[in-house]
Amino acid sequence: MIPRPHSVRPEQGHLSIGDSGLRVREDAALPREGYVLDTTGEVAELRGGSAAGLHYGRQTLDRLTTPGSPLLPGERVSSLVPRVRIEDAPRFGWRGVLLDVARHFMPVPDVLKFVDLLAFHRLNVLHLHLTDDQGWRLEVPGWPRLTSIGAWRDESMLGARVHERYDGRPHGGFYTTDDLRRIVAYAAERHITVVPEVDMPGHMQAAIAAYPELGNGFRGGVRTAWGISTHVLNLEPATLDFCRQVLDHVCDVFDSPVIGIGGDECPADEWPGGRELQVAFTAEMAAHLDRRGRRLYGWDEILAGGAPPGAVVAAWRGEEPAEVAIRAGHQVVCCPDVRLYLDYRQSDDPGEPTPVGTLLTLEDVYRYEPPDSPLVLGAQANLWTEHMESLRRVEYMAFPRLCAFAEVVWGPKERDLADFLARLPEHLSRLDAMGVNYRPLSGPRPADARPDAPGNPRTLEDRLAELHEMTADLRGPGESGPRG
Ligand code: ACM
Repeated sequence: MIPRPHSVRPEQGHLSIGDSGLRVREDAALPREGYVLDTTGEVAELRGGSAAGLHYGRQTLDRLTTPGSPLLPGERVSSLVPRVRIEDAPRFGWRGVLLDVARHFMPVPDVLKFVDLLAFHRLNVLHLHLTDDQGWRLEVPGWPRLTSIGAWRDESMLGARVHERYDGRPHGGFYTTDDLRRIVAYAAERHITVVPEVDMPGHMQAAIAAYPELGNGFRGGVRTAWGISTHVLNLEPATLDFCRQVLDHVCDVFDSPVIGIGGDECPADEWPGGRELQVAFTAEMAAHLDRRGRRLYGWDEILAGGAPPGAVVAAWRGEEPAEVAIRAGHQVVCCPDVRLYLDYRQSDDPGEPTPVGTLLTLEDVYRYEPPDSPLVLGAQANLWTEHMESLRRVEYMAFPRLCAFAEVVWGPKERDLADFLARLPEHLSRLDAMGVNYRPLSGPRPADARPDAPGNPRTLEDRLAELHEMTADLRGPGESGPRG
């Protein structure tokens, strides 16, 4: 939630900031997102390492003036502030959340509300997963069929794949360039960077449905089943040109220093040359982004065969790929699925909606700790939305686990779970005031259940064994990895 500041030195009494005001200034000696709030003198003083630091300092000040109150962010009940000197700064510079708007499209107002919720929790990266087999969600000049065809599917799976159920209802939507610029600007005002991802060369069936010449003979529609399509891009010169045009447009719209190209889960079945083709493809995209002054951001599959120098790796297949990325000298964002995938079920209660993945409780998220290395930029919680067709469902899966995650990435390494759980109810009352459909601490309500969309829960043991297989190509021939 709003983590406790790193250093708090209280004194006796209160200061009225209504009468004396608040002196605010930037101070380059502080960490960029850090701040010092001092109400012990005649006049309250707030210094921040940048506009972002001042923003976080103001959040803390709001909190001091509304103790215990379920008021909205920025609202104050009183101008009286306890006398205190607070020094604070986040531990990690990448405090991210992935929102998958490809599996289920989220309208702009929903994305903006989600941005507000990230800002409220001092999270500073929104990774937008914009394209996948099941839908293409951004306009690209010169490629109108990406959105007229690629943004729509005939129906969606209901529940986990094993059940092979469908809802019989069309689904779709896409963001215009103006929509995306609005999201980027709105997020920037809240000190959040939007990191776009266009997943390539796999997870591309929606684009190939729109432009079959990008594929390898597939003639069909946008994928309606969950899971991974074997229909991937061909890697011919014209297709590479398409990818460069898409990335050029993405660079025009998004100011993020890193640009996501995905690179995960790309079956090589349709390629004559096999997997090595992907290594060359990723290197070419990295070179193109470099010409645009950006760095490539890709899933840990790009480590196989060697990721391009300077690439930032999103390490997701368990906890081992982060270590591999660090050993290879790459900056890394840690998002191990078994620790930080918020589409995984929150409890074993039979009333949880569409329970999938391994069990990942609030306490599990709170206890997550990224590896200790200067190459770790931070961590990211991922919200894949196969089973979340609305922002209400996203909120249910995200909160309160994101409250715990916020403390992992901002707060100290040594954390106190009991203290967190004691502070949580007051924070949840604020989420109530903001209309957030968080999962109650007591468990799912009857109406949260989705008997129409059954899940497929997994055991951790089973998933760890699968991850070990999946990441075999990251280990050298003689290495068995940490699992022996
Ligand atoms: C992923 O979960 N396929 C990155």
